[in-house]
Amino acid sequence: MSEGIELTTLPRDVLPTVSERVARLREALPQIRAVLSGERDAVALEATLACLLWETLPWCNWVGFYRRVEERTLKVGPYHGTMGCLTISFDRGVCGAAARTGEIQRVPDVHAFAGHIACDDRSRSELVIPVVDSEGRVRAVLDLDSTLVDAFAEEEAMILDALLRETFTDRDEVRW
Ligand code: SME
Repeated sequence: MSEGIELTTLPRDVLPTVSERVARLREALPQIRAVLSGERDAVALEATLACLLWETLPWCNWVGFYRRVEERTLKVGPYHGTMGCLTISFDRGVCGAAARTGEIQRVPDVHAFAGHIACDDRSRSELVIPVVDSEGRVRAVLDLDSTLVDAFAEEEAMILDALLRETFTDRDEVRW
């Protein structure tokens, strides 16, 4: 596992079909689970997930976490990609909407999302999934951005949501 994850190497910024993307994610899942097994430190989990999802989803230009540091404020956490904004209020952007509502935000075209924050103006689609602790509190969000329109299907959102739940919500004694 010295290279992190064993998957076919794909060019970056090229969008496979939905079924190819889902198959690749399903192939990566057991490897990701094996790496994260037994870890309880939230930053170690976030950093490793950002790394492995960056390798798994090469159609993304940003993969990472924003952490809740105040009641209604997110700060950038572990990520891969172009530089992200450092601070995002719950009132702003796709990440803010996910943190505020606790609901997955799947945005096929960010130009059609009022208030989207363009950290990288090449970003065209985005998926943001809340990270919830064992008491049901939103602790962070996973943010995935792509330079390609409609790069995240519902099925991918469901798979990643389940991965986040088993990693952060259902795991005993995560240290935040
Ligand atoms: N586009 C996001 C901001 C975060 S970055 O793109 C890394 C948003 O609207 O919340």
